[in-house]
Amino acid sequence: MDKDIQIKTVFEFDLNEEIRHHLQPLLCECFGEDYPEDRIYFKQMPHFRFLAYNHSRLVGHTACDLRVMNLQGKAINVLSLIDVCVSSEMRSQGIGSRLLLESDKFCRNRDIDFIVLFADQGDLYERNGFKTVQNRCKWLKINDRNLTTRGIGYELIPELMIKSVGEKEWNEGELDLLGYLG
Ligand SMILES: CC(C)(COP(=O)(O)OP(=O)(O)OC[C@H]1O[C@@H](n2cnc3c(N)ncnc32)[C@H](O)[C@@H]1OP(=O)(O)O)[C@@H](O)C(=O)NCCC(=O)NCCS
Repeated sequence: MDKDIQIKTVFEFDLNEEIRHHLQPLLCECFGEDYPEDRIYFKQMPHFRFLAYNHSRLVGHTACDLRVMNLQGKAINVLSLIDVCVSSEMRSQGIGSRLLLESDKFCRNRDIDFIVLFADQGDLYERNGFKTVQNRCKWLKINDRNLTTRGIGYELIPELMIKSVGEKEWNEGELDLLGYLG
């Protein structure tokens, strides 16, 4: 199976109608009826995406943001992963892991300290080198129904997971996301 999967990297501003046409149903299928039907992001457009293709069929996705965050008073460079998903009939074949491996590869030889994501369930990520951390977070709250700013959130988020891809050490001080929570 692995050799049949190809990962393409696409910058958001290069997404064409054909990709949108296939990506929107995939996101709706994977994230349920709450997913907006008229766009391909929940709260904010990402910077780029990894798209997994089985031959010419789009079967997996992760959106990526490049962000500066503030960890206990120090700037860290972060690759933030959003909406990791694989089409239901293609799951359990390693495609999710391939997408995570691709984000690892992307970070190599780049000035990125950590990969960060928020997950209800940790297994896929733990298996791929992520760990759950306990940081009080500060972030911009966005109402995804009407795309408006709701305010600033400030609390410990149990779903926060990180992977170190540089020299810096993570600590469990305050994490200011300097933006929305993906
Ligand atoms: C999570 C998901 C991307 C995994 O894709 P995948 O191609 O099946 O991943 P892999 O084959 O590399 O690994 C599968 C393992 O991931 C783990 N896993 C399953 N669902 C998961 C989930 N929702 N979150 C985290 N890990 C999950 C299981 O341990 C699974 O092992 P199993 O096949 O023995 O059951 C896919 O299940 C999915 O799209 N789920 C719906 C959307 C979603 O919940 N995304 C996560 C957002 S944080």
